[in-house]
Amino acid sequence: MPPASSASLLCPVCRDRLHFRGGTRRTLVCPAGHSFDPARQGYFNFLVGKGTVFEADSADMVAARFDFLSAGHYRPLADAVADAALPAFAGSTPATPGTVLDAGTGTGHYLRVLLDRLTAAGTRAEAVGLDISKFALRRAARLNPEAVNIVADVWQPLPVPDGVVDVVTVVFAPRNAAEFARVLRPGGRLVVVTPRPGHLGEIAGEAGLLGIDPAKDQRLAASLGHSFSALSATDLDVPLALQPADVGRLALMGPAGHHLDRGALAAMTAGLPPVTDVSARFRISVFEPLHHHGPVT
Ligand SMILES: C[S@@+](CC[C@H](N)C(=O)[O-])C[C@H]1O[C@@H](n2cnc3c(N)ncnc32)[C@H](O)[C@@H]1O
Ligand SMILES: [Zn+2]
Repeated sequence: MPPASSASLLCPVCRDRLHFRGGTRRTLVCPAGHSFDPARQGYFNFLVGKGTVFEADSADMVAARFDFLSAGHYRPLADAVADAALPAFAGSTPATPGTVLDAGTGTGHYLRVLLDRLTAAGTRAEAVGLDISKFALRRAARLNPEAVNIVADVWQPLPVPDGVVDVVTVVFAPRNAAEFARVLRPGGRLVVVTPRPGHLGEIAGEAGLLGIDPAKDQRLAASLGHSFSALSATDLDVPLALQPADVGRLALMGPAGHHLDRGALAAMTAGLPPVTDVSARFRISVFEPLHHHGPVT
């Protein structure tokens, strides 16, 4: 597996370029001497200053997400995300790889599938996985050892230079439109996955899932409107036949997992039939940055 390069990373303290000291994958260091050692599991912590007000996913939420996704239930979505991203890597080769940023990478599931699809297509990308949850990044660092996995807040300036990223992927995670537009190259792509109304509707009530705002689409377009133009939107429905434990994981792994009563959830899943039919309803939206920085070619 080729080691990730640090060519596309900025120091979170002074925003100068970072390099791996001595060419190993150990310590990232900038010219001013700010240095970042990886955690034992291999991710880097770039949270500096006063910390964040955002609530990171907890260990049990991350474990539920990892187990659910590993079972392959959302594989069609991972493939659709890769399909949407691949055209932006048309000019990449193993020797001149592209760059992908997975914002809110979670356990790294979608990035893993994209990196494997790039390999299958005979090309390669250097990958950066960002998430605010160190529990998620422990998993992501193990799943995607060739990526640089960074604990960072997507609402802060991203640790990536202007215009160097081919694709930003955001799967059920927060979107910082201005920063995504800044880091994308002209002609690069932003691939966003959102749930559609009715997503997991069969279990939403029992499992205490948060409702899907029907105006979400307009809000997505509005939040990106100043920086992006829409290229395409594809709806994907995935029928799921879930065992009780899967239903429990699905409930815990989403945003509702921050508030769910674990005991009540266990009691609910214990009362479920052996198989529950559930529809996952996704939208994959692809955007192109309107403005760009750096030289026009
Ligand atoms: C619903 S999960 C989706 C994770 C992954 N993309 C997936 O679909 O498996 C949302 C992710 O966004 C992360 N997240 C939430 N707020 C964030 C922030 N301000 N900065 C970076 N990541 C954030 C969470 O820690 C979580 O891993
Ligand atoms: Zn620095």
